[in-house]
Amino acid sequence: MTMTSPTKQVQPSVDAYVEDRAVLDVRGLWKVFGPRSDKVVGSPLEELSRAELKERTGCVAAIRDVSFTVRPQEVFVVMGLSGSGKSTLVRCLTRLIEPTAGEVLLDGEDIRKASDKHLRELRRRRFAMVFQHFGLLPHRRVLDNVSYGLEIGGAKKEARYERAREVIELVGLSGYEDSYPDQLSGGMQQRVGLARALAVDPEVLFFDEPFSALDPLIRRDMQNEVIRLHREVGKTMVFITHDLSEALKLGDRILIMRDGELVQVGAPDEVVGAPVDDYVREFVRDVPRSHVLTTRWIMRPPLPDEPLDGPELGPDIVVRDAVHTVLRATRPVKIVAGGELLGVVTSEEILAVIAESPGKPEEGK
Ligand SMILES: Nc1ncnc2c1ncn2[C@@H]1O[C@H](COP(=O)(O)OP(=O)(O)O)[C@@H](O)[C@H]1O
Ligand SMILES: [Mg+2]
Repeated sequence: MTMTSPTKQVQPSVDAYVEDRAVLDVRGLWKVFGPRSDKVVGSPLEELSRAELKERTGCVAAIRDVSFTVRPQEVFVVMGLSGSGKSTLVRCLTRLIEPTAGEVLLDGEDIRKASDKHLRELRRRRFAMVFQHFGLLPHRRVLDNVSYGLEIGGAKKEARYERAREVIELVGLSGYEDSYPDQLSGGMQQRVGLARALAVDPEVLFFDEPFSALDPLIRRDMQNEVIRLHREVGKTMVFITHDLSEALKLGDRILIMRDGELVQVGAPDEVVGAPVDDYVREFVRDVPRSHVLTTRWIMRPPLPDEPLDGPELGPDIVVRDAVHTVLRATRPVKIVAGGELLGVVTSEEILAVIAESPGKPEEGK
């Protein structure tokens, strides 16, 4: 097992991802619960909506034909209302729940075909999970909770304690090694959960609504903590939440689910700027658009007589961060990428997006 110390890692821009490389590649995934659930996929029943299927057969299609990829080092958020299938989906990815149909490729290998032994190995070394209710062992000290996965993996006491101390420090819990979980606040307990997951140096970290049980302020701290840890250890993360602001804050990309189906996958600005349907539109309607949309979303072609000697900005600058430059400029601001003029932005476009009531302009504020 590699036990390298975390190193600073620069997050590649989305454009730098090699599109065809996926850490996880999920294809046509189904999970049906209920009587004769294996008879649904591949039969005419699979065409039925979740409600119809339930009525006719008593089966619940928790996941319906979902496909997506997770790229190296990205934070991939799965979002949806309660019951939309998020927990089932993430559990299928590690086979804590057996999928009914479809493929789950980890670095190209279909884990649905893995033997029990191989699967245990995968769970020990390459996946780690952080749960909503922490899942700590109450009779074990922080140090022993954090080193638990390493113990299971057969690491010697000294080695696992050394690694555990490292990650305890990483999550800001130095000094609490000998405390028991019930002596810690909720936020601190979840830091232990985080440390335990990081200790095994997994390839992919899965989070299932890890901060839902925490107070809002602690929750915000923990979100920032995840952002910081992600910057420091550069892990691929699959993060489940039902909270849009959390999704927008953490996600490089967001997958939105409804009734077991994938509705939209995209970067935060894509989901907010171009929602595919009313469900997504409703989700994002209260988001301050200037905090999420980038200059790319508000630029327009230059008019024939417009001066083009103004300042330049990139297309991926969040509108909020472009306000100052644009409002101060006496010329249209050019949106430029790779030396190419993509469009211009003036104070008019900036003010339009700031003044806009989120989602449904016709309704007013
Ligand atoms: N073991 C199970 N047996 C039957 N139905 C289940 C089971 N687990 C989940 N479901 C159903 O599958 C759907 C998705 O659940 P879940 O994945 O927990 O959603 P979420 O995590 O988004 O709240 C729900 O309708 C739920 O009732
Ligand atoms: Mg859930």
